[in-house]
Amino acid sequence: MSLRIRNFEEYTQVYKKSVDQPEEFWAEIAENFKWQKKWDKVLDWDFRKADTKWFSNAKLNITENCIDRHLEKLGDQPAIIWEPNDPEEHYRRITYKELHAKVSQVGTMLKNNGVKKGDRVCIYMPMVPELAFAVLACARIGAIHSVVFGGFSAQSIADRIQDAQCEVVITADGGFRGTKDVPLKNVIDDALVQCPSVGRVIVLTRSRTPVSMIKGRDCWWEDEIKKVETMGNPECVAEPMDAEDELFILYTSGSTGKPKGVVHTCGGYMVCTGYTFANVFQYEPGEVFFCTADIGWITGHSYLMYGALLQGATTLMFEGVPTWPDAGRFWEIVDKYKVNILYTAPTAIRSLMGFGDEPLKGKDLSSLTKLGSVGEPINEEAWNWFNEKIGKGKCPIVDTWWQTETGGIMISPLAGITPTKPGHATLPLPGIQPCLVDENGLEIEGNGVSGNLCIKFPWPGIIRTTYGDHERCRTTYFSTYDNKYFTGDGCSRDEDGYYRITGRVDDVINVSGHRIGTAEVENAINMHADVIESAVVGYPHDIKGQGIYAYVILGSSLHDHDLTRRDILQTVTRIIGAIAKPDKIQFVSGLPKTRSGKIMRRILRKVAEGETENLGDTTTLLDPAVVDEIKAGAL
Ligand code: WT7
Repeated sequence: MSLRIRNFEEYTQVYKKSVDQPEEFWAEIAENFKWQKKWDKVLDWDFRKADTKWFSNAKLNITENCIDRHLEKLGDQPAIIWEPNDPEEHYRRITYKELHAKVSQVGTMLKNNGVKKGDRVCIYMPMVPELAFAVLACARIGAIHSVVFGGFSAQSIADRIQDAQCEVVITADGGFRGTKDVPLKNVIDDALVQCPSVGRVIVLTRSRTPVSMIKGRDCWWEDEIKKVETMGNPECVAEPMDAEDELFILYTSGSTGKPKGVVHTCGGYMVCTGYTFANVFQYEPGEVFFCTADIGWITGHSYLMYGALLQGATTLMFEGVPTWPDAGRFWEIVDKYKVNILYTAPTAIRSLMGFGDEPLKGKDLSSLTKLGSVGEPINEEAWNWFNEKIGKGKCPIVDTWWQTETGGIMISPLAGITPTKPGHATLPLPGIQPCLVDENGLEIEGNGVSGNLCIKFPWPGIIRTTYGDHERCRTTYFSTYDNKYFTGDGCSRDEDGYYRITGRVDDVINVSGHRIGTAEVENAINMHADVIESAVVGYPHDIKGQGIYAYVILGSSLHDHDLTRRDILQTVTRIIGAIAKPDKIQFVSGLPKTRSGKIMRRILRKVAEGETENLGDTTTLLDPAVVDEIKAGAL
């Protein structure tokens, strides 16, 4: 069976087969990749133990599939086009041949610095091609990459480095984003005070901002590359990896505790991202694919990099931000490189929509053939604007639902094949078996229903474990409903069987398509010396989708409230990063708690949404009077 479905009838047939004979289905998909040795068994699974194994005992290296196997036919085609933050700086085009040479070189550099198969490497870099080289070089030599988004604080990086016990960090002096020069190496230096496991830091020069270089620990990327050149650039062989060897760790927030290290493995993740990229985007040879996500998030991992490269695509990597030097930057990039497929987030669409038609003037968007949306529910207004102003009514929009834990796209139209409806992720991909369950865990059959979204059968991209704590993986995803993977999302299925994701049903806020745990933000706020207690909820935000609303009880603070508010924001920035800063902070004297001490977030959510009537039953509260105070002070 070929990888790609060509029409809706075929979709229906293939979908049916994938449910009737899932193992045969996935085995046939897997035949489209290069294996050094085939599997003994397609699938072993036990959801009750959170155990899934795909393609047991198969051997492969994902970089051979992303790079080497394309060299003969596509060697001179650009693999990566890089657009710098500053439009005046020269862009870069890296062909598949060049990518092969670069990844080999960086792989050897990592080996020279003591990195071995199975070692964890933390990557904290700006969106420059060397970031992609570093990630792929880890995969080449069998090291496990843990990319941390450049917006996270030193404390967040330290937590992630410690959790994974990383030995090596790859970073840059600094990075450019819009008018900002982000001091990456300084942040790493602060983080490493707490990280004795790290023996080596490799620093790429990008901004050439002054940095401290510690003897014996820190070295320059460029010097290390020179050493590889002096060795005569030996070919870095692709390490044979077991299908279930770990490929990477990516941290993501949940409703409790610190972020979890989601683990993906080599074989299944490769099959999942390559297959979904080809089908969802209906990628045609030669097309330019522009995914606007940062490689620090799963979308950047799975589609900007792995999925696109697995299909021999040309992938566009953009260092900057959509609104600098002006709000026409995306459209200028589409015009400049004749982008065919644009994959972005509703929050970006809504923000650019706000600038009106002016930024679109003089930009030729006629190269676009397909559009994609990811990360959060897309409202109808944004969908229509995207469709009309950007797609000119002729580009199918794929609203792709998936998660860090799913590895790849799960529910989405196939571009130009599945009839679309604004706001609907539509239908599951073949191989994916979603279901809706009620609060008793019973599956809700039929159409025109809603419930909590689960997946009842494994797929190759499923999370394998949470790094260092398998029990946490089991309780988080596999214990809420028996024998099902629970997504944490609410969802409806309409009369046509189309799925519409309505948002998280747990204590996770989706801010601009990024997951933030309320508990994490509360912990950060509570670190402020004047704070006694806090409660954080999400509320609808015109651009970000959801904003962060914090209710804070202060101790006997002598400070001005506005200053304290700013100090709290600074504290959160220090502990997590600027992305977790509350949009609103309301000081309160108490929180609505039940007699057993549980905060009634339902009430806080309603008030944050601007609802002051219909707060539901408040009679079980310890002190119902706090509700009146909270309502009166609502921001
Ligand atoms: C959560 C996953 C998937 C990569 C980016 C985010 C929400 C994601 C959609 C969509 C409605 C969506 C869900 C999901 N979400 N895509 N098309 N429609 N909601 O990855 O950080 O792991 O977050 O994002 O709530 O659970 P993530």
